[in-house]
Amino acid sequence: MRKIIIAIDGYSACGKSTTAMMVAERLGYTYIDTGAMYRAAALYFHEHYVSLDNPHEVHKAIEQIQIQFHINSKTRRSETFLNGLNVENDIRKMHISEMVSEISAIPELRKHLVEQQRKMGKKKGVVMDGRDIGTVVFPEAELKIFMVADLYTRAHRRQLELLEKNQIVGIDEIIENLKKRDLLDTTRAESPLRKAQDAYQLDSTYITIEEQVDFILHLAMAKIMERTENVNTHERSN
Ligand code: DC
Repeated sequence: MRKIIIAIDGYSACGKSTTAMMVAERLGYTYIDTGAMYRAAALYFHEHYVSLDNPHEVHKAIEQIQIQFHINSKTRRSETFLNGLNVENDIRKMHISEMVSEISAIPELRKHLVEQQRKMGKKKGVVMDGRDIGTVVFPEAELKIFMVADLYTRAHRRQLELLEKNQIVGIDEIIENLKKRDLLDTTRAESPLRKAQDAYQLDSTYITIEEQVDFILHLAMAKIMERTENVNTHERSN
């Protein structure tokens, strides 16, 4: 079977990461959470007091940022490493969510991370989630999904996720954060969040994670068969 690239884009807290991770696991593909890469960069900026108004400092910081993913052998979940340190918990904290959209709008940072993302997906067999995967990182991805959900549902899900990490945050604060990030993500000059023309829209408001995963797997299998047939036909005719 030939491998494909699955791009999952959409608004914050629509369930992209969990869905993408499960789809990757079922297909034996690699899961890449590009939001975690922007979050890790935001953490670096925060910890090194990088001034966003100083292009020299920003440039120097970007050069220092190395991000990798490793699978935790116990949980079997992918975890984010920044310059060799596991930052998976730190990057999910509310103060990072507050600053990440502003930092992810920096063109030089996007260029740097998009290059890394393209390298990670070069051999295909990846499920990558983010905001610009189907439009900018892999416009040629065989399968593109654009996820949406009702704002209150998204906020409620994010609140539960934070609670699981012992962070108690009020629903109003989360709603405000999501609204602010939606606005910044969709209106920024560089690679704004938008649905690719050939993406399938998936509204996760009233469906379960299992249903989301099945919807994507169904489409993925059709695309994998299509690609396998195309490659075989091409090879036979040569
Ligand atoms: O998916 P997330 O909430 O963890 O993403 C964190 C932020 O990173 C989000 O506010 C927008 C940004 N982001 C981006 O600009 N491009 C991506 N491909 C992924 C995330």
